[in-house]
Amino acid sequence: QHQVDKYEKQFATPTETLNKIVSHFISELDRGNTDGTDPSGIPMNVAWVMDYPDGSETGDYLAIDLGGTNLRVVMVHLLGNHKFTTEQEKYPLPGPIRTTKVKEELFDFIAQSLDDFVKKLNPNGIPEGTVYPLGFTFSYPCTQTSIDMGILQRWTKGFDIPGVEGHDCVPMLMESINKRGTPIKVVALINDTCGTLVASRYTDNMTEMGCIFGTGVNGAYYERVSNIAKLEGKLCDDIPKDSPMLINCEYGSFDNGRKVLPRTIYDVEIDNESPRPGQQAFEKMTSGYYLGELLRKVLVSEYKMGNIFPEYEAGAREIEYLTTPYILDASFLSLCEADNTPDLRETQMLYKAKLGIETTYEERLFTLKVSSFIGTRAARLSICGIAAACKKMNYETCHIAADGSVFLRYTGFPERAAQGLSDVFGWDPSLKMDEHPIQIVKAQDGSGVGAAVIAALADARQKKGL
Ligand code: BG6
Ligand code: GLC
Repeated sequence: QHQVDKYEKQFATPTETLNKIVSHFISELDRGNTDGTDPSGIPMNVAWVMDYPDGSETGDYLAIDLGGTNLRVVMVHLLGNHKFTTEQEKYPLPGPIRTTKVKEELFDFIAQSLDDFVKKLNPNGIPEGTVYPLGFTFSYPCTQTSIDMGILQRWTKGFDIPGVEGHDCVPMLMESINKRGTPIKVVALINDTCGTLVASRYTDNMTEMGCIFGTGVNGAYYERVSNIAKLEGKLCDDIPKDSPMLINCEYGSFDNGRKVLPRTIYDVEIDNESPRPGQQAFEKMTSGYYLGELLRKVLVSEYKMGNIFPEYEAGAREIEYLTTPYILDASFLSLCEADNTPDLRETQMLYKAKLGIETTYEERLFTLKVSSFIGTRAARLSICGIAAACKKMNYETCHIAADGSVFLRYTGFPERAAQGLSDVFGWDPSLKMDEHPIQIVKAQDGSGVGAAVIAALADARQKKGL
């Protein structure tokens, strides 16, 4: 019990702490809109989408969605009237591709998946003269000076492929596409948060933010151009000052300056051992990519103190597994938390399958408790970005579209996130989640649809000569 209390304290996120984080977050959102280049802050990347979709957009668009765990290729048919249909294929990212030394491997993998998909759509051959407009959802921070390009600022979420940072990703992808002769032209490059927001806004006009709680953590919202000081002199004079501009906050990098987040020694170690120490401070405490590693670090430290798994020698195969970085993923914590068998039998099965370890009931209970501290902290911290954007924009009643493996699959995550928002806003505790003024709702069908809607909005602007 003593050990459990210790971790409960270390991972605690009382409301006062959240309030402090939210108020710093608001000033960081503003700072990023003024100058997003300071690595201690949030980039607030301008996405060059200056229209809200109204659900009337139509057309057929191809979209790819390169997230943290999968590549999805989608044919989106926008039907207008807030409706769409999709045909899609999912291609799991081959593990080693995240850190390949040869960047062409990544772009060739995407281009090959696209080529396979387009050929499958056209079993009798692609009709002469077809050129598919493609929306490219690339879920990494990019600098954009227009909608159809994006210079990668830096890799996140464990990706580390040389030769891509500092370069526009669109020509690299086009080169791989052209090698295969697939008739495709990239018309928009977008972040997954922007895609999530726009896709959901297409069907629900109460949507004000798009958020990802997945391998990474991030959010997007529409800012007024007059509030984006760094755009001064970069927009035509005839653009009204209250025009909306979609912003990809990239708030995974919130508090890289180490001012407010309550970091444990495990957070510090994860950061120091990552390919990019000092970066993505917020993401490293909240996103799915790191949750398993946090738990593993706690377990290793308890093992080294002789408090758990004492029957296993340091050199044992089971301990070799346990001491392998990133061997546990977020699903391990989620499944432990979901185990409601009286003797936590399912947790034992998980331990056996992942690490080969035989556990006692106390060890399983300890794992469950620590998982719940880590998972609760992740949910409560990650809503701080949402609360900050809503407070800053005075959104009192709205929907926040959310996507990502943690939101969709981590036991109890949406409930904990809603509780965190309620604590920060001080809503009546008797309100149920679906009575909250600001609700985090499941996004519409992935950001591929958003890429298609954004491509349609870009087409419409071009046709109007804007
Ligand atoms: C998907 C979205 O559902 O969630 C992607 O369509 C997004 O655009 C992804 O990147 C994020 O989730 P994860 O868990 O794969 O990082
Ligand atoms: C990382 C990426 C960001 C993305 C997020 C969610 O934070 O840097 O671009 O939106 O993960 O996938």
